[in-house]
This record gives sequence, structure tokens and C-alpha cells, in this order.
Amino acid sequence: MKVLLTGGAGYIGSHTAVELLRAGHDVVIIDNLSNANESVIENIQKIVQRPVNFYHGDLLNPADLDRVFADHKIDAVVHFAGYKAVGESVAKPLMYYQNNLVSTLNLLETTTRYGVKNLIFSSSATVYGIPEKLPVVEESPLSTLSPYGYTKLAIEHILTDVAAADPSWNITMLRYFNPVGADASGLIGESPRGIPNNLFPFIMRVATGELPELGIFGNDYDTPDGTCVRDYIHVTDLAIGHICALEHLGGLRIYNLGTGRGYSVMECVQEFSRACGFGIPYVIKPRRAGDAPAIYADPTRAANELNWHAQRDLADMCRDCWKYQKNKQ
Ligand code: NAD
Ligand code: UD1
Repeated sequence: MKVLLTGGAGYIGSHTAVELLRAGHDVVIIDNLSNANESVIENIQKIVQRPVNFYHGDLLNPADLDRVFADHKIDAVVHFAGYKAVGESVAKPLMYYQNNLVSTLNLLETTTRYGVKNLIFSSSATVYGIPEKLPVVEESPLSTLSPYGYTKLAIEHILTDVAAADPSWNITMLRYFNPVGADASGLIGESPRGIPNNLFPFIMRVATGELPELGIFGNDYDTPDGTCVRDYIHVTDLAIGHICALEHLGGLRIYNLGTGRGYSVMECVQEFSRACGFGIPYVIKPRRAGDAPAIYADPTRAANELNWHAQRDLADMCRDCWKYQKNKQ
């Protein structure tokens, strides 16, 4: 297959590119580098020893998309491109609605014009809001708290309508839980700009001494150790999930991609300390607004229908994060 990855220079897209290339598929990437660096493309090529077709282009500009489809016969698209920071989306809602929604509409218009109707969409566990019942299944009630989350829900609705109107579309929406870790090569990984909002990038900056200590947002939740529980999933397992999804396209499908196992913030800190060989300094801070006490996936549907299972555990995630971080220094 020749697969177009929008936002393919980003964290999850770059790992998916590597796994697709390792599996023998061809990859075309379009990315405006708003949250990525062109060196990622070189590193993907270094890992797989194969060339990657890269377009420095913006999905907000239909001509950029047109160029890609005119140059390549694309079999399927994986749509990663978009903004993803929850806090920033609250501060700049229009920027989020504009980029995430208009990009998707431009992409759908162009793929339709070129007769490419196989699409995988990067959705998020954020669409489950604060779940009442755990683990969450794909039919769990949907709700969300941020403009970012609304863009994910809105795109899920748009894609559902598109699939209903034209049954020749094959659309799979993947709801990712918390991706962490890095490719085992240590050459690509997650490196957000500025002070990180998410747990693992923050822990890494503390481990390198760039930040003095981690703030743990609340230790008085109704969870085993009082800190929040999340379903952390190794980004390589997540990337492989996209290949399984591409191999099982058919109509409209929705899958949770998580391990099915929750880890607390404290367990993450302890596991990361084991991986790097020294303690991560932390302080307990007040709860962060909007945090679910616990959320983890029921990944049964992906196991049964896609034959996909997460293979890597929290120790693997911490080891690979740390390897990438040390490589970068
Ligand atoms: P990322 O920011 O690393 O990657 C997104 C990429 O899209 C970036 O490289 C960015 O430069 C590019 N991009 C943004 N707007 C663009 C545009 N208009 N045109 C072209 N390129 C554009 O993020 P990621 O962590 O790799 O996430 C990928 C997708 O998965 C996003 O849609 C995100 O919402 C979703 N997701 C991520 C997580 C997570 O924890 N990382 C969880 C759930 C869902
Ligand atoms: C967040 C987003 C979610 C998005 C996901 C992927 C919120 C409310 N949710 O999920 O929509 O899909 O990122 O990027 O922002 N924590 C600390 N200290 C820190 C950072 C985090 O204690 O400095 C805790 C949080 O309270 C949480 C856990 O670590 O319990 C994980 O946080 P984070 O990595 O931000 O992910 P989510 O909140 O699950």
C-alpha cells in the first residue's frame, strides 16, 4: 500500500511511518512542521534505510494537498494532522476549530476528488470525558470538556455522516489512550516545544535537570494510591495498531487503542526512576481542572476484529523514552 500520513512528521505519525516502512509499505508524508522538525524525516529514513516522500505543506491550503494527490497514487490516508494541546485549545479555541476542522474538510474534499476513500482518523480517549464506568468500551457515553475534545467529537460526527452518505467510504476512527515511549532505535520520540503539559514529557525534563521537580496533580483521588490512573500505551504498539486497522478497513469502524491496564501517576514516576537509575523529585500539587480520576480502555474489539494487542509494558515505555532523551542530548 502507498499510505499518505497527514501530520506524519509528528510524534505518532513518525512512529507509524517507521512501522509501515518496516512492514514493506510506501509512505508519503505531508506536514506543515508547526509542531515538528524536518530532521524527523531524516531520522525515519535512517531507521528504515529507505526514502520517504515528504511534502512541507499545510492542510489548510488545498493546493498543497492537491500536489500530493497529483504526484502519487494514494491507497489510504491516515489523518494525524492537527493541534492537540488541551490547555492551549481553551485559550485559543478559534485556532483549534480552524486548524482541526478545516484541515479535515479540505482533506475529505481532496480525497473524494481523487477517488481515495480509505481513511484512518486519529481520535482520542478525550471523547469519553470523565467516564462513569471503567473500562471504557466504544459505546461508552461521549462527552468532552475542551475545544480540543470538541474538534475530535465533531470530526467523528463528520466522518460518520460521510460514511452514511456514501457506503463506498472505508473509515476507521482510532481512539488513542495515552501514548508514551519512543522507537527502540532512540532516533525519534516525543519532544514538545516549551514547558510540557503531559506527564512523560514533563518527567523527562525533570530527569535531564531542565526542570527542578514534577508537580503531581492531586493525591486524594479515589484510586489505589490517590493519584490519577491512565492507560499508557507504547507509541510503537499504537503505530502497529494503524497497520492492523489499514489491513481491516471496511465501512465505518471505531476502536479503542489502549492496553486495558491503568497505571497511576506515582507508578509512572517510580518506573521512570528505575529506568533512569535515579529518583525523580516531585511535589504534590492541587488537582488539575478537568482531570478524570481514572480512565483505561477495554481494547477487546481491536483484539477481536483487528488482531491487535499491545505488547509493551510501562517498563518498556520508560526505557525507550529515556533512551531517546539521552540520544538527543
Ligand atoms: P503532533 O503534534 O506531534 O503531530 C501532529 C502533526 O501535525 C505535527 O507534526 C504538526 O506539525 C502537523 N500539523 C498540524 N496542523 C497541520 C496542518 N494544518 N497541516 C499540516 N500539518 C499539520 O501530535 P501527535 O501526538 O503525533 O498526535 C497526532 C494525532 O493524534 C493528533 O490528531 C492528536 O490530536 C491525536 N492524539 C494524540 C494523542 C497524544 O497523546 N499524543 C492522544 C490522542 C489523540
Ligand atoms: C491529556 C488530555 C487529553 C489528551 C491527552 C493526550 C487533559 C485534561 N487531557 O490527557 O485530552 O488526549 O493528554 O495528549 O489535558 N500529571 C501530573 N503532572 C504533570 C502532568 C500530568 O500529575 O505535570 C498527571 C495528570 O493529572 C494525569 C496524568 O498525569 O492524571 C496524565 O496526564 P497527561 O499526560 O496530561 O494526560 P491526560 O490528562 O490523560
